[in-house]
Amino acid sequence: MKNANWSEIYRERRNKIREAVGGGVLLWLGHDLQPRNYRDNTYPFRQSSHFLYYAGISAPYLAVLSYPDPDYDVLFAPPAHIDDIVWMGAAPTRVELAQQAGIDTVEEIGRLGAYLTRARSQGLHVHYLPPYQASSLFRLAELLVIDPTDVIPGASERLAEEVVKQRSVKSDLEVAEIEEALQVTNRMHRAAMTAARPGTHEYRIAGCIQGIAFSENRQQSYNPIVTVRGEALHNHSYDNRLEDGQLLLNDSGAESPGHYASDITRTFPVSGRFSQAQTEVYETVLRAQSSAIQQIKPGVPYREVHLHTSRVVAEGLRAMGLMRGDPAGAVDAGAHALFFPHGLGHMLGLDVHDMEDLGDIVGYPKGEKRSPQFGLNFLRLARPLEAGFVLTVEPGIYFIPALIDRWRSEGLHLDFINYDRLEPFRSFGGIRIEDDVLVTAGGARVLGPGIPRTVAEVEEAMGNR
Ligand code: GLY
Ligand code: MN
Repeated sequence: MKNANWSEIYRERRNKIREAVGGGVLLWLGHDLQPRNYRDNTYPFRQSSHFLYYAGISAPYLAVLSYPDPDYDVLFAPPAHIDDIVWMGAAPTRVELAQQAGIDTVEEIGRLGAYLTRARSQGLHVHYLPPYQASSLFRLAELLVIDPTDVIPGASERLAEEVVKQRSVKSDLEVAEIEEALQVTNRMHRAAMTAARPGTHEYRIAGCIQGIAFSENRQQSYNPIVTVRGEALHNHSYDNRLEDGQLLLNDSGAESPGHYASDITRTFPVSGRFSQAQTEVYETVLRAQSSAIQQIKPGVPYREVHLHTSRVVAEGLRAMGLMRGDPAGAVDAGAHALFFPHGLGHMLGLDVHDMEDLGDIVGYPKGEKRSPQFGLNFLRLARPLEAGFVLTVEPGIYFIPALIDRWRSEGLHLDFINYDRLEPFRSFGGIRIEDDVLVTAGGARVLGPGIPRTVAEVEEAMGNR
């Protein structure tokens, strides 16, 4: 993490949100370790991003209570047990952890329930965010002495709204973290391009990517998608052999030292050279992405950028003879979603899909609902953009045989889709190009060191094999 007074930053963030919520106590519950089969054989630990944002400590079994008065926070942490020291070594003390977080008061985690009971008996409402891990849900039920089924309905909408307001706009230090993550991600993507060749397997490329993240002491921001079956949007198996003539889609990113995410997709030919058909589709996706980035500026709803990009995709597909008719009409009808069935992008921050645990209040203005239209229903970010937002721009074109067959058998969008021309594309796969973009006062800035993106850049990067 960049040199800065982080403990002061956490203190300021807590002061800002307690003031914005305007009363009650705020309960920040950290994550627990999740057992794989017994207590001490656990999945890798990842702290709650909300906890990281407001307290910055990446360790399990912690909680913070923020009282209404400025600077009045209490860190709750487990006592140091001699068995833990014997098995895992000495950990920072509770006081040291509290100093990291800019908190002056520490307590044993076992006392949290009593603190909450006292706060409520003093008439203070307990604001907490809706949990998404079962262990947090049951812990909240126990702490608040309520039924587990009442935990999510009892979560604080007010707190969630203020968290979204605060976390959506990234400071320069946060943007620097994402750019730092992208340095490692750049290496991951270049290495994948260099390692790909006919006869190797997806798991070797996935392993190479993971090795680079580990060698920099980083986690990945999400399970990477490394596949020659790129038309399966979130394909997480790595079994396929890479064959000459196929495309490999690599959607992967490293975390920064402060646990900020990066999220990049590149698609490249296993052989190192794009075929003519691959080049045509690739250039269309690239044009769509560049055109989307040009549209980005404060005030523009991301739904409009998504629809604009969809029209560029439809135009490109019409030029290839795969679609027909008016591209704007095709997009209004949702016909382009046969090829581009997902949203243009999402917010990025401490989470890869930033704050999506809080639902559509992140990506949609209050009162605005998602469209039920296929494709548009997967648009996670639709709201007007603001300077300081970091988001992904990730258009794609996919040939999904099962979807093509389904639409064709239902006679869908015959005015816009040339089904007969799709036959040669049944094994094409999919192309997605994804970058992480900062909304600036005057427009947009693509973050990161410049990961090969054009046909020429990708082929050049692959030339060094
Ligand atoms: N990187 C996966 C996604 O954006 O959904
Ligand atoms: Mn993404």
